[in-house]
Amino acid sequence: MELIVARSREDLAKARRGADVALVPTMGALHEGHRTLIREARVRADQVVVSVFVNPLQFGPNEDFSRYPRTFDSDLEVCRAEGVDVVFHPAVDDMYAPDRQVSVHSGRMGEIVEGAVRPGHFDGMLTVVLKLFNLVQPNLAVFGQKDAQQLALIRRMVADLDLPIEILGAPTVREPDGLALSSRNRFLSDEDREVALALSRALRAGAAELAPHRIRAAAQEVLDAAGSRLDLDYLALVDPATFVEVSESYEGMAVLAVAAKVGSTRLIDNVTLTLN
Ligand code: PAJ
Repeated sequence: MELIVARSREDLAKARRGADVALVPTMGALHEGHRTLIREARVRADQVVVSVFVNPLQFGPNEDFSRYPRTFDSDLEVCRAEGVDVVFHPAVDDMYAPDRQVSVHSGRMGEIVEGAVRPGHFDGMLTVVLKLFNLVQPNLAVFGQKDAQQLALIRRMVADLDLPIEILGAPTVREPDGLALSSRNRFLSDEDREVALALSRALRAGAAELAPHRIRAAAQEVLDAAGSRLDLDYLALVDPATFVEVSESYEGMAVLAVAAKVGSTRLIDNVTLTLN
């Protein structure tokens, strides 16, 4: 079937069909990580909608909204190759009325860990995701574990606001050397890229330990060894559902999450581990 490009909500309403629709929200600059989400959606749903929208609401005043990569033509090729049915690519003005008032508040969970470094980010993210849910009306939406706190907050929003949508989390896709794929990796110089490897290396070192204090210490040691070119925002060992730091006696699944700037590029990564 031909890929339909919907550039307005009216186009989208015309293209949307049936009761078995999966949505993969993205900001474009699609890479293999996005492609795995699309494949997960493809095998589960009759109609697959990919949204490509760089959402201004989730960028802070000193963040990279204007330099965020926009590669729509190659994104379309990716979507075509993956058998996507509809690409929804609205303009900013089409998504946000100038007099808009109401938005989603992410609560306490939106203010900790990543939310503490990026105030307002998760409110802006949840607001656009809720709008996309309402416009596309999917019964399934697929998100990456790469953005673990985002995924946890979306699950929370679905539960707290009774949204009739199944949320599927997909594992993080990495380069062979461990670097998590990200649209922002293209900004890394060769030297930056070497430094950036400390993130995934730190997570692996942490995951090899058993007790929370040793997990944190092992990961921190690797980050310290990366030197001053790595500007750490946080290293956190948290409950995957709440993003609250786990205690030494915690049992169950935990997420070890890290965020750092390397040069002018900000990177995040995480691993899931089991504590018992
Ligand atoms: P974006 O960064 O484009 O990511 C879109 C989706 O791809 C997210 O669910 C993200 O977790 C997933 N993803 C990114 N890198 C990945 C990787 N290496 N492996 C697996 N999945 C990966 O996240 C956003 O956009 C936005 O916040 C959005 C949800 C679209 C709202 O604006």
